[in-house]
Amino acid sequence: MEGLLIRHVRLSDAAQLVSFKKSVSAESKFLLTCPDEVEDLIDQRRMITLYLSDSRRIFLVAEYDGQIVGIITLSGSSRRRIMHKGELGISVRKQFWGKGIGSALMEEALQIAKEKGFKKIQLEVMSNNHRAISLYKKFGFEVEGVKKKAVLIDNEYIDLVMMGKWLED
Ligand SMILES: CC(C)(COP(=O)(O)OP(=O)(O)OC[C@H]1O[C@@H](n2cnc3c(N)ncnc32)[C@H](O)[C@@H]1OP(=O)(O)O)[C@@H](O)C(=O)NCCC(=O)NCCS
Repeated sequence: MEGLLIRHVRLSDAAQLVSFKKSVSAESKFLLTCPDEVEDLIDQRRMITLYLSDSRRIFLVAEYDGQIVGIITLSGSSRRRIMHKGELGISVRKQFWGKGIGSALMEEALQIAKEKGFKKIQLEVMSNNHRAISLYKKFGFEVEGVKKKAVLIDNEYIDLVMMGKWLED
């Protein structure tokens, strides 16, 4: 998408990220956070600081026309037995779905993850989130298991699908 910029998060993004997260959580039922559960500005600043100061974490934003329209995060552990893995999260504003922003974020994050020495990326996705599952399969993620009835939305239990991707050397 022309004019799209994928970059690392900055502390000055905090306020915009709070409203971004409130919007995406209201627009989509595929996220675990409800709009009223989104972190406030102070916690958002704390979270950005953590990502910026921890080499086992990645936080990228997709910026279009000065607005944050998508984000991707990858969280690794400092514990040696599991430090080869990172947990991925991604979201894009609804009006921008299907324009390649999710793919652009994924491509950049996977590249940085490889450079940082991650060996495996894993994630969890609701079983009815077909768009996200297509995106993950396109990037080589495979289904590794299912957590049954792990989420409750509007009185309906939904399975969580665990997916993983081994990063080639
Ligand atoms: C999942 C999400 C990040 C995808 O972002 P996006 O910017 O729409 O992704 P892209 O435009 O790069 O499309 C990625 C792939 O999705 C698939 N896709 C696109 N439209 C689709 C549709 N209507 N139905 C099913 N799959 C679709 C395609 O495989 C596409 O790749 P292709 O166009 O190269 O074939 C975005 O829809 C989103 O934020 N959803 C709400 C939050 C969410 O579900 N996050 C993931 C939680 S695990």
